[in-house]
Order: sequence, then C-alpha cells, then structure tokens
Amino acid sequence: MISQRNDARHWWRDAVIYQVYVRSFLDSTGDGIGDLAGVRAGLPYLKKLGVDGIWLSPFYPSPQHDHGYDVADYRDVDPVFGDLGEFDLLVAAARRLGIRVLLDIVPNHCSSEHPSFREALAAPPGSAARARFHFADGRGPDGSEPPNNWHAMFGGPAWSRVTEADGSPGQWYLHMFTPEQPDWNWRNPEVPAYFDQVLRFWLDRGVDGFRIDVAAGLFKHPGLPDSPDPEADARTRDSVNPLAWNQPEVHDVWRHWRAVCEEYTARDGRERLLVGEVSVPTAREHARYVRPDELHQAFFFDLLSAPWDVDAFRKVISEAIQDIAGTGSTVTWVLNNHDQVRTVTRYGEPAPEGSGLGAARARAAALLMLALPGAAYIYQGEELGLPEVVDLPDDVLTDPIFRRTGSRARIRDGCRVPLPWSGQASPFGFTQEAADVKPWLPQPEWFAEHATDRALADTRSFWHLYRDGLQLRASLPQLGDGTLRWLDTPPGILAFSRGDGLVCAVNFGTAPTPAPVAGEPLLTSGPCPPGVLAGSTAAWWITDGTHD
Ligand code: GLC
Repeated sequence: MISQRNDARHWWRDAVIYQVYVRSFLDSTGDGIGDLAGVRAGLPYLKKLGVDGIWLSPFYPSPQHDHGYDVADYRDVDPVFGDLGEFDLLVAAARRLGIRVLLDIVPNHCSSEHPSFREALAAPPGSAARARFHFADGRGPDGSEPPNNWHAMFGGPAWSRVTEADGSPGQWYLHMFTPEQPDWNWRNPEVPAYFDQVLRFWLDRGVDGFRIDVAAGLFKHPGLPDSPDPEADARTRDSVNPLAWNQPEVHDVWRHWRAVCEEYTARDGRERLLVGEVSVPTAREHARYVRPDELHQAFFFDLLSAPWDVDAFRKVISEAIQDIAGTGSTVTWVLNNHDQVRTVTRYGEPAPEGSGLGAARARAAALLMLALPGAAYIYQGEELGLPEVVDLPDDVLTDPIFRRTGSRARIRDGCRVPLPWSGQASPFGFTQEAADVKPWLPQPEWFAEHATDRALADTRSFWHLYRDGLQLRASLPQLGDGTLRWLDTPPGILAFSRGDGLVCAVNFGTAPTPAPVAGEPLLTSGPCPPGVLAGSTAAWWITDGTHD
C-alpha cells in the first residue's frame, strides 16, 4: 500500500545520487581495475561532496563483454571487484555515513555464460531450457536466415545461430545488444520468478534500491514479426523498434517489483527505490512507467541530449515537469552517465579548444540541474569537470559498440577512463597498491589538472561548485522537490523561481548581461562582477520576491 506519495519525507523524490562506475572509480588491489573495496575507501570523499546515495554499475560475475551488463551470475560479485563479504562491508560503511546504495540490475538480457543460457545451448530445440530465451528456427530452406529482420542496438543482426549437440547448424537466439547478451523470455513464468529471487537476495543484504537497465525492454511483441524499419535502433542508438521494446506487459513487472519494495518498506520503514532506464518515443509513454504503483523514477534523458541552447533547455524542462505531473513521481535529471560524451566536451563543441567554453557551460548546467525540482544523478568525474578523453587509441577501446559497428562509432570509452585522485602522473592514485600498474584504460597526462586532491584544494574547482551547490540544496527548503515558475527574461537568458524567493538564472550567451535579480548571488558557476550575470554562467539568489 502506497501512502502519502507527495510527502517530502520520501527521500528519493529529490535525492542526489552519484553514479559509481566501479571499474574506474578506485582500485584497491593493484590490478588496474576499480573494485568494491575502492568504492568503500572513496565513501568519505562522497560524503564530503554531499551526495545522498550511490548507484553501483554492475559488479556481478561477468565475462565483461559489455562491462558487466552481461551478467553470468546475478547473485554474486565478480572476483575482479571483490566478493560478497566486501559488498556487505561496503553497504554497512555506506549506511553508517548515511549514503544509500543502489544496484544496477539487468533484467532484459544476461551473459551467454549464464548457467541457464549454457543449459539452453546444450538442450534440444523445443526444450524447457530453450524456452527461457528466444530460440527460433531460421528462415529459408535450410534455416540459414535469421527468424526475423531485427537489428541489434550495437549493430549487426539481433540473432545468432547456434550449433546443435550433433554438430549440425541449429536454431537462432535473440540478442538485442551483443551476441554475448541473450535476451530473456519474460513470457516464460520461470524468468520473473528467477528475478524475484534476485531482487530479494540483494534487498535482504540491505540495498536501498535498483537502477533498472533497459527498463522498457524485457517483453517482445508476440510472434516476433518483421520490423518495417529494422535498422532503426542501430541507426538512432535508441530503442525505437516498436516490436522489440515498450510492450504493455512490462508494466506488470514493474508493478510487481514495486510491491516487493513496498513489502520491505513495510518491515522496516526504509523506502526502497526503483529508477528505470526508460527509453521510449514519447514523454507520455515515459510517464506511464512512473505511475504511482510502478517505478518510483525514470531517468529523463532529454536534458542530457539537449544542445546548449536556451530554447531547447526551456522546452525540455517544461515538458518534463508537465509530463511528470500527476504521476506521483519527480523528474530525474541527468547530464552525464557512462554511455554519453561528458558535458565539458559536449557543450564545448564546436568552440575552439582551450576556450574554456565547454567547462563554463558544464558548470552552469550543473547549477541549473541542482536548482530544478526533482532528483539529480551525477556521474563520477562530473564533479571534477573531467572532459571526455577523445583520443584513446583504437587498440585500447573496449566498448562493444566500437567493435560491432566496424570501428565507425567510438562512443563510450572516453567517459569511462579511471578517475584521477592525486599526483602528476598516471595512475594518479587510482591504483593504490602498485604505482607501476596501468589502469585498464590509459589516463592522459592532463588528468593531473583534474585530480581530486587539486580539486579539493582549489575553491574555484568544479568540485567546490558541486559541493557548495549540494550543501545549499540540502539546507534551503526552496530547492529539491516542488515546482518552478519561469521568469520573464531577455533572449538567451533562462530564469525561474523556486518556492519562496529562490531564483536561478542561466546566461546561455557568451556576452555578460545585467543580472535579472538585484543583490549578491548565493552561488555562481563562474566569476560575475556585481549586478552582472557573466556569459555561460548560472547563479542562484535569494530574493524578497520583487523580481516578479
Ligand atoms: C544500458 C546501459 C549500457 C549497456 C546497455 C546494455 O543502456 O547503460 O551501458 O551497454 O544497457 O545492457
């Protein structure tokens, strides 16, 4: 039973969650790969930053074809990242610091090394083991063509053919991502029952909720018919095939998962959170995932995909707030994650390199996001103002998108380079044990400028901006959950008020403009002379209400 949904005590409504990409956060064992003990060692840093919780990218046993989004065992820890004992220590340490812990759960597909899939490969066509996945006979006289024309998100056909036990060419199985990530068949009741056990396993170990990977996936259109535009997913890098995603049955799963969470809340009063990665074509469809008895939240990616443009920002923010109204959820803002080019680089283009424009805009966007009503997610390194590493050599790239698009797309490695913590040279304190160990992706020399020790010592750093913003957000009743009201502004300026007298304004242009509010700002994303809002800068003020 869900009660008082609009009560501000629901912590998740305006939580700020820090996404930890475990393999790139902090390496405690000296193998060049981040791990759970590293995350635990980093908790005091995150506490100082002021986040409410962390979301851990997948750390389960996995052959790592898609960095853990290919799960071979949903109820254990990959030895590369630690073990269950270390996981328990991490959860306990986070609890002591008041930091909530979210796990990344991957229900659409598993790894081809998952025991159920291995069993399916060994079993004959038509068997119960194969029915947990989507196995089908091929088309054409000898079955040598895939069962339908769908393409996978990361390029290539969405089907791979297996060899049967007698050595003959056999059936095909469906994988909407890589061939190493077979899709579960959620129409088979054994699959939801299995995931129930997985959820409870981690809830019993004390987690505060889950980020749900590909939450508009799971079900496929019955009969798996051909798509009129089979390459749309790979072309757009978005889940747009209407036969492969966003099937109505998926909502029953989220209702059930919500009920499981409520069951745990009823026991101890701690609310568990479900936040979905929901990519669907319309805002209206998106809102259906956060109806009061479904997911608590779903990432709102339109802000992340908006160009640095005042009208684009105003439009996506207005639409998000409008669409969420009446659902009982709050907008879940995100500017960066492990799949996207980092803001400093994204907003910098096509500005001349070294202009600092990308960094100034990324700082302004951060203050904007933290002033918006709802929850916010920060991706590790965002608080350091890390730019994308755009010049990684081909031979170190590990993103399956790169391999599967014939090396045309280089998208996700550049935001996953291990964090710089200290010092002048790689591994910049990322690897704590042995200084000569190479991080799993090479860190450029210029990472030194962004190392956390420097950031902490420099009050003008991104880190201080995020920390100050988070502190104010925690202490000012106007910020966090609630509504906003747009203020009339000249072209190129976006301004809104929150609650009683808090104003946030952003100058999207490069030229300074008169500040829309009199008086000293509480916080600015860059230097502003008195009475002026500098170009590519955001500021917060507390006013007496006369601004409007
Ligand atoms: C999500 C994840 C991405 C992963 C994909 C397949 O989009 O964010 O990193 O590759 O799902 O699991």
